[in-house]
Amino acid sequence: MPKLGVNIDHVATVRQARRTIEPDPVWAAALAELGGADGITIHLREDRRHIQDRDLRVLRETVQVKLNLEMAADEEMTRIAIEVGPEQCTLVPEKREEVTTEGGLDVVANRDRVQRCVEQLLAAGREVSLFIDPDESQITAAAELGAHGVELHTGRYADAADESLRNEELAALVAAGRAALDHGLLLHMGHGLTYRNVVPVARIEGVSELNIGHSIVARAVMVGFERAVREMKALIED
Ligand code: PXP
Repeated sequence: MPKLGVNIDHVATVRQARRTIEPDPVWAAALAELGGADGITIHLREDRRHIQDRDLRVLRETVQVKLNLEMAADEEMTRIAIEVGPEQCTLVPEKREEVTTEGGLDVVANRDRVQRCVEQLLAAGREVSLFIDPDESQITAAAELGAHGVELHTGRYADAADESLRNEELAALVAAGRAALDHGLLLHMGHGLTYRNVVPVARIEGVSELNIGHSIVARAVMVGFERAVREMKALIED
């Protein structure tokens, strides 16, 4: 059964909308742990649009399950990851203008840069995973660089326009997953997974970790909204 890494970036997105102190992703991480999360995932982006350096530092002290830092394969993030010490680093591509991580890391095209980063993280004792599209050449490159695992981008599966395309994308994930396992890599998956589409992915053989963020945060807003309004109403009526 795959483990669940809960991505709490969008709790920080709501906080940053007002540059205030709430909601605090540190609280969300504690609640996620209470709910059974096996890991907490955060992406410290170059533009700090959601998670801040303070969040990473405090979470490093408070999170009791695996802390997984999604990060660009650059010098600044490598230094931070080595200093702060999340158990796992997942290297992702990063473009300022994108709304979210839109495709996998092109390990083949950026081999030297990714290699420099992977080597430093491995030497510092981090577990290293590369977020890539379900593509054999990327898997081979990830294995050659000595990464512990890969996280296959499930976005094309999640965004498939109809069932037949979704089945094609699922088959691509199954095949790429098998190739990753054959290379001795740990197999993670994530991006765009929801309460409606997660089950077939969770059933893929050998997948050991799913990272899910947006859909969980979206549901948390909805399942908590009624109570939040009742509590405000009660205060006003008092
Ligand atoms: N895995 C990786 C590598 C990601 O970059 C993201 C988004 O930050 C996720 C998983 C979670 O994606 P989503 O928010 O769509 O569940």
